[in-house]
Amino acid sequence: MKRSLSAVKPTGKLTLGNYIGALKNFPSFQNEYDNFIFVADLHALTLPIDPEYLRNNTRDLVALYLACGLDPNKTTIFLQSDVSEHSELNSILQNYLYMGELSRMTQFKDKSQKMNQNAIGLGLFAYPVLMCADILLYDADVVPIGEDQKQHVELCRDLVHRFNTRYQKDVFVMPEPTIPHVGARIMSLSDPTKKMSKSDEKGDIFLLEDLKSIEKKIMRATTDLGSDIYFDKENKPGISNLLTVYASLKDITIDEATEHFKDCHRYGDFKKEVAAVVCEEIKKIQDRYNEIIASNLVDEVLKEGAEKAKKVAKETLKRVQQTVGIYGK
Ligand code: TYM
Repeated sequence: MKRSLSAVKPTGKLTLGNYIGALKNFPSFQNEYDNFIFVADLHALTLPIDPEYLRNNTRDLVALYLACGLDPNKTTIFLQSDVSEHSELNSILQNYLYMGELSRMTQFKDKSQKMNQNAIGLGLFAYPVLMCADILLYDADVVPIGEDQKQHVELCRDLVHRFNTRYQKDVFVMPEPTIPHVGARIMSLSDPTKKMSKSDEKGDIFLLEDLKSIEKKIMRATTDLGSDIYFDKENKPGISNLLTVYASLKDITIDEATEHFKDCHRYGDFKKEVAAVVCEEIKKIQDRYNEIIASNLVDEVLKEGAEKAKKVAKETLKRVQQTVGIYGK
């Protein structure tokens, strides 16, 4: 059985962008693939974060994985920090990636540009190395992600090629990024030319946000001049973003969504319908989340998940250690 693997960083409250680009798609892999989904808590340390906030986000994220349809009997759900092999493989792989290629990563450039240039953490710079370790440790064939992570998986592919060529054997499996056709990049509601990210209160919709507040944000979403509803990313970024959200949640194509709204000539009516679909979906998730967070399920799932993940990770690490000449027992 082929293996699928993905993760989310618990750096903030999960957004509708995280849901549409990633979480919503994770359960579809659990029937056809040996599915591994984890919480990238070590990655969350690459920028300063309050420990209590991180702990709560981590717990919420696991509960949200389950609320979004991941079944712990079909998917191995675990914390990155519970499997020390991630860090061990990271320390080997850092010797096979180059500073030049890491400094060209868009996410690093975006984040570091806003920082004091003398205080950019090494972990932020080396972030993609750990991500390569995450993927390669599990021999993942496919990696379901949103568009912003594609460059990191491509770097991982370069690394696999480099490593396997150097040792002249298929030590690592070549991973394939899987990006949704609709909704790979959900934009901010307040500025639809920017990506919706965990740190933009006004432009974000959070999965655990009050439904009234979500509705308000959608009704106030920045739109463009005009009154017709059609997809045109350049000239109508706000409308195109809302159409994408609608199409994704309805599991239809952008063309089908445009057809649905062809007789609607008022942005207000259009936004109301989008808001209703978003609130309906998020309410289902919140109801399940509330049940899960009040139970012991999160701890039980993580305990079992860590054991299963460790078994696979240990084997891979041993294979890599033996390949490079470390005495892997
Ligand atoms: P993170 O936590 O930034 O995002 C989690 C997932 O959500 C997707 N995403 C979006 N999709 C559509 N529209 C948006 N506005 C949007 N914002 C975020 C991301 O593409 C991602 O799929 N480095 C990763 C976590 C990670 C990982 C891994 C992923 C660590 N190791 C190994 C896959 C495999 C990250 O920071 O995702």
